[in-house]
Amino acid sequence: MNNPDVVIVLAAGEGTRMKSAISKVLHPIAGRTILGHVMEAVRPLSAKEVRVVIGAHKDSVQAHLADISPSALTVYQAERNGTGHAVQLALAGATTTGTVLVLAGDTPLLTSTTLQEFIAVHHANESSASVLTADLPDPFGYGRIVRDEEGYISAIVEERDADDEVKAISEVNTGVYLFDNGALREAAAKLSHNNSQGELYLTDVIALIKGAGKVALAIRSNDYTETLGINDRSQLAECTAIMRDRINDQVMKSGVTIIDPTTTWIDADVQIANDVVIYPGSVLAGKTTVESGAVIGPRTSLTNVTVGARAHIVESTCTDSVIGAEANVGPYSYLRPGTTLAARAKAGAYVEIKNSTIGEGSKVPHLSYVGDATIGRGTNIGAATIFVNYDGVEKHQTIVGDEVRIGSDTMLVAPVAIGDGAYTAAGSIITEDVPAGSIGVARAKQRNVLGWVLRKRAGSSSAEAAKRAGATERE
Ligand code: UD1
Ligand code: MG
Repeated sequence: MNNPDVVIVLAAGEGTRMKSAISKVLHPIAGRTILGHVMEAVRPLSAKEVRVVIGAHKDSVQAHLADISPSALTVYQAERNGTGHAVQLALAGATTTGTVLVLAGDTPLLTSTTLQEFIAVHHANESSASVLTADLPDPFGYGRIVRDEEGYISAIVEERDADDEVKAISEVNTGVYLFDNGALREAAAKLSHNNSQGELYLTDVIALIKGAGKVALAIRSNDYTETLGINDRSQLAECTAIMRDRINDQVMKSGVTIIDPTTTWIDADVQIANDVVIYPGSVLAGKTTVESGAVIGPRTSLTNVTVGARAHIVESTCTDSVIGAEANVGPYSYLRPGTTLAARAKAGAYVEIKNSTIGEGSKVPHLSYVGDATIGRGTNIGAATIFVNYDGVEKHQTIVGDEVRIGSDTMLVAPVAIGDGAYTAAGSIITEDVPAGSIGVARAKQRNVLGWVLRKRAGSSSAEAAKRAGATERE
């Protein structure tokens, strides 16, 4: 079995360069936190114990871990005395046999596949200490991998402790290590503060383990982007863009058309079936799922939305909603939490809906607000209808039956119910229930004051037009 016995994630750092009120590892990328991505990469390794070293912002990091990885143990490092110190603390009370994988909490692009390959090479070579390395175009700031004449790693030298010859090395320590548990414990106990930062460096255990006559290996990763760490907002943006490209590539490989992958942002947990088409400027976030043949965008944002087969959503923003098969949304509509559009339903242009169900084939085609309502099947809601759900203190429900025709510009003052097959007259303010099959008319009767414009607006262009049409001043 290649699974590591213990995984130690180092996440106690201050993240000073982020200049943020929240912990560096809690910043989101593609719908997960930075730490969340690391924990996801570690999860398939099925380690017996996962220990996360926390320090800065410990309460919020701990609460987040309880949420995303309840089985992970946290180890508190009160003072940041270096990566070696963090590992010493994490080892206390941990399993003492087998292997220990150590990685940093700020490398969100690392994949399980790369970790598994790294672990396999470690075991195949009967290594006691292996470090994952990468050749970086710009190695500045990283610990450099110094190899001996035979090509084996002899030491890791930090940028601050490096001379010019070492600084010229492009192969760097990615901060991912696999150790034989016993060898790590022995070496970690011997670490010293003898370096420019006066910290205990985990990197020094490599030379110590080698010095004890054991095998130490530097194992190169062939994709350096996986090993990029985040220390500031520019690196956050860089890693976010790499993650976007990675997710979009996977989505396209699975049979989805993305017209413009550079402006399409899909979160890691979104699921999209084949033959979906996504137009530019669209964001699919959270736990969104999209079934086959749906067309999304352009400029559409879906957060936690379930989209049925062959639905169309154009230039709209939808959150915590269900959009049925072959339903239509937009352009310029806003589906707020609790909206359900049944199959073939429509929320057309400039329509806002919240906490409402629109039945099969029912339509809200233009300029309407629907709140706290249940609408049956085959019903049409006329343009500019408002569901008046709020009396200033409480929200109330409206029920509209099947095959109803709500006239344009109706106000449905909740609580109110419109029976099956009923109508409302355009411009009505409906405050009482309308029984099935009836028409509710609730507006003043029209009165025409003949000749008014000719008398009161004499000489105006309207009066002139009226005269040409044969109107006279008489009442
Ligand atoms: C470290 C490595 C360096 C490597 C680089 C890769 C050391 C001495 N150097 O440098 O060789 O190239 O990572 O990114 O290890 N942390 C703690 N407690 C501490 C100090 C750090 O938990 O006392 C955590 C940090 O939160 C971070 C990780 O350990 O997640 C690495 O620490 P950081 O200070 O970023 O080390 P680097 O200078 O990047
Ligand atoms: Mg770092």
